Amino acid sequence: MRIKHLFIAIACSIAASAQNTVVLQTANGKDTINKNIYGHFAEHLGHCIYGGMYVGDNNKTIPNRDGVRLDIIEALKKLKVPVLRWPGGCFADTYHWQDGIGPKDKRPSMLNIWWGNVKEDNSFGTNEFLNMCEVLGAEPYLSGNVGSGTPQELSDWVKYTSHPNGSSPMPELRAKNGRGNPWHVKYWGLGNEAWGCGGNMKVEYYANVYRQYATFMTNWSNTDRIYRIASGASGDDYHWTEVLMKELPTSMVDALGLHHYSVISWSKKGPSTTFTEQEYFTTMQKALLMDEYVTKHKAIMDKYDPKKKVALAVDEWGGWYEVEPGTNGAFLFQQNTMRDAMIAGATLNIFNNNCDRVRMANLAQIVNVLQAVILTKEEKMILTPTYHVMEMYNVHQDALMLPVTLTSNDYTLGTEKLKAISVSASRDKKGLTHISLVNIDAGKPQEVTINVEGSSFKTVSGRILTSDKIQNHNTFENPDKITPATFSGAKLEGNNLKLTIPPFSVVVLELK
Ligand code: AHR
Repeated sequence: MRIKHLFIAIACSIAASAQNTVVLQTANGKDTINKNIYGHFAEHLGHCIYGGMYVGDNNKTIPNRDGVRLDIIEALKKLKVPVLRWPGGCFADTYHWQDGIGPKDKRPSMLNIWWGNVKEDNSFGTNEFLNMCEVLGAEPYLSGNVGSGTPQELSDWVKYTSHPNGSSPMPELRAKNGRGNPWHVKYWGLGNEAWGCGGNMKVEYYANVYRQYATFMTNWSNTDRIYRIASGASGDDYHWTEVLMKELPTSMVDALGLHHYSVISWSKKGPSTTFTEQEYFTTMQKALLMDEYVTKHKAIMDKYDPKKKVALAVDEWGGWYEVEPGTNGAFLFQQNTMRDAMIAGATLNIFNNNCDRVRMANLAQIVNVLQAVILTKEEKMILTPTYHVMEMYNVHQDALMLPVTLTSNDYTLGTEKLKAISVSASRDKKGLTHISLVNIDAGKPQEVTINVEGSSFKTVSGRILTSDKIQNHNTFENPDKITPATFSGAKLEGNNLKLTIPPFSVVVLELK
C-alpha cells in the first residue's frame, strides 16, 4: 500500500510540474500572415449598422462623419481593420444594391426578413459603405446577392463600384451620385451560405450557379483584378469543399469561404456572461474545432490545387450565445467576456499557423452583433476583450509566420480535456519577432518554456490581457475593467524564454 501511495505522489508531482514547451524555429519561416486574417464583418442586422456604426448624417448628438460615428472610426483605425465584409450574411442574398444609391428620400424601403422583419430604409448603401472603408483604410469585401438576385445585377454592381471613368451607364450613374472615380473593389463574395439562407442549394447546383455569376464579373485590367470568393462550407461539410474544388476552375475562383461559430448548441446557446465553467469548456471545445476544420479543408484543397492558388477565407467565425436579456432576439446583441478573448486568441493562432492557405478571415460581427469588438449604447461606446486581443495581435499582420512546435499541458474538466496553451509567432518587416500565447485553463497558471532555434535575442517585452474572473467584461459604466497591461514576466535565459501565463489570459511578446 505504502509503495502504491508513494508512486501516486511521485506521479502527481510530475504532472503538477510538467512544463509546456514551445520550439520556435526562427530560420524556417516561408509564409506570410496575410493581414486580411484580421478582417471583420458588418451586416444589416440589429444595431451593427443602424444605431451602431451609422447614426445618420443628420445626427447632431453623436459626433459623426457622414453619419458614421467618430469614436468608432478612431477605434477601428487603431485596430488596423484590413478588410470589411458587407452587407451580409443572410441579408446579402435579399439585398438589391440599386435600392441603396442616389438621393436618400427616393430610396425604397424593404423588409429585413432574416433579422426581425424590421424596416430597412436603405439610407446606408454602397456609397456610404465604400466611403466609410476609405476613411477606415480598410478594403471592402462586397457580398453579392446570388440567392435572389441576377448575374446582371451583380455584374452592374462591379461596374458601378470599379469600372474606370467613361461614358457607360454604371460609371455615369456613379458620377450622378457624386462619385467620379471608382473605388476599385477587389473582394467579391458570390452568395452567402448558399447551402442555407442563401438559397438552400446543393453544392453540385451552386457550383454551376457560381460559374455563371463569375463569368459576368469582369476584370477591368490585369493590375486591378477582382478577387472572387465562393460561398463555402459550414464547419465539417467537406463534401462542399470537395465539389467546389473539383468543379470551379482556378481561373474563376480566388477563395472558398468557411463558416464556423463557437456555439454550445443551437437550441440552448447559454448566456453570454453568467455561464458556468462547463459552458466555458464546451465553448472552447467548439472554438478549437476550427483547427480540425481548417486542416481537413486544406487537405482537400491541396489535392486539387497543390500550388495553393485558391485561398481559404473563414469569412464568418466567433462565439454565439443567447442575446442579452431584454434585447430583441433577432438582433443578436451579446456581451463579450474573457471567454471571448480566449476564442479570439486561440482562433487567431490557428489562422496564423495555417496562413499558407487561410488568407482571409472575418470575425462576426464588428459592432453590437455576436462576438463584437465594439458595443454601443446611445452616445456611449465600449471596446470589448475581443477588441483588445485583435489589437494586441495586429503585430502579426503581413509578418512572416515562424513555425512553432508545441507540447502543452491539458486543461481538464471532469473526464474531458483540451490543450491549455496555444501559440503562434511571426517576424515583421522591421525585424521584430512576436509570439502570441493563450492559456485557456480556467483554473491553473501555466509555465511555458520557449526554446528559440536559429536566432538569439537580447530583450523581451510584452503585453497581457487578463482578469480575475472568466465572466468579466467591460460595461458602459466600467468600460476599462479589461484592458491590456504591460507584461514583464518573460525572462530570457540564453536560448530559452520562460514565462508563466495566468489562467484564461492572452500574452503577446516582442523580441529584439
Ligand atoms: O452572422 C450572423 C449570420 O450567421 C449570418 O447572417 C449568416 O451568414 C450566418 O448564418
